Amino acid sequence: MQTTTKEAMLRGVILAGGLGTRLYPLTKVTSKHLLPVGNEPMIFHSVRQLTAVGITDILIVTNPSYVGNFVNVLGSGKDFGCEFTYRVQEEAKGIANALALAEGFAAGERIVVLLGDNIFESSIEQVVSDFHAQPAGARVLLKKVDDPQRYGVATLNGNRIVKIEEKPKHPKSDYAIVGVYFYDSSVFDIIRTIEPSSRGEYEITDVNNVYINRAQLEHSFLKGKWVDAGTFDSLAEAHQILLNRKE
Ligand code: G1P
Repeated sequence: MQTTTKEAMLRGVILAGGLGTRLYPLTKVTSKHLLPVGNEPMIFHSVRQLTAVGITDILIVTNPSYVGNFVNVLGSGKDFGCEFTYRVQEEAKGIANALALAEGFAAGERIVVLLGDNIFESSIEQVVSDFHAQPAGARVLLKKVDDPQRYGVATLNGNRIVKIEEKPKHPKSDYAIVGVYFYDSSVFDIIRTIEPSSRGEYEITDVNNVYINRAQLEHSFLKGKWVDAGTFDSLAEAHQILLNRKE
């Protein structure tokens, strides 16, 4: 796609840390994000989602055990037409904690954050344009799902999200928050204000709720199939989505 100067300034962050315990023993000696999905390692999908919309500055955040494997498989970025930066999340303390490591990389620019285990059938091109059109704040993506308890879930009032609950026992809607987030540069100050949740993690949902309180959280609806490939069933589904994708 044709990129404007403004769009070219959006930087990409792929979060590929975590322990992948639900996929044990597949993750005994490697990262979940390096497992095969379609015909490639899972993380290639996130990289290609970003390069397809003209994003060429990409930060990869991994855990310390496998950072060398990521560098071996992805390299400098030359093969993908982009430039990779790598950072290590020392402890699995949640998505917002991993994202905090991107502050220097972001250098005051807007960012798009992808969870490296989220697989999409469609491009994020339209959402990138929607984000560029908003003056400030953040944007999340929603998808109607059968099992909202697994995700961050949006409470909607008309066309606004009024609250997001992380893995609620009694979800207020069927709309899950997808693992693609768009932020302005205030996200890093917001991360510094949040506390760990009951599961001991710095939750991205808490960050997004701060944007809601500031009336600065916009949303788009994701088109096409979406999978969070953290379990055996969803990994198999992700595989099918990518193999069947027509492009
Ligand atoms: C994370 C987020 C959740 C979001 C999901 C999307 O969940 O915390 O809000 O809906 O990713 O994949 P986790 O991967 O920690 O279970």
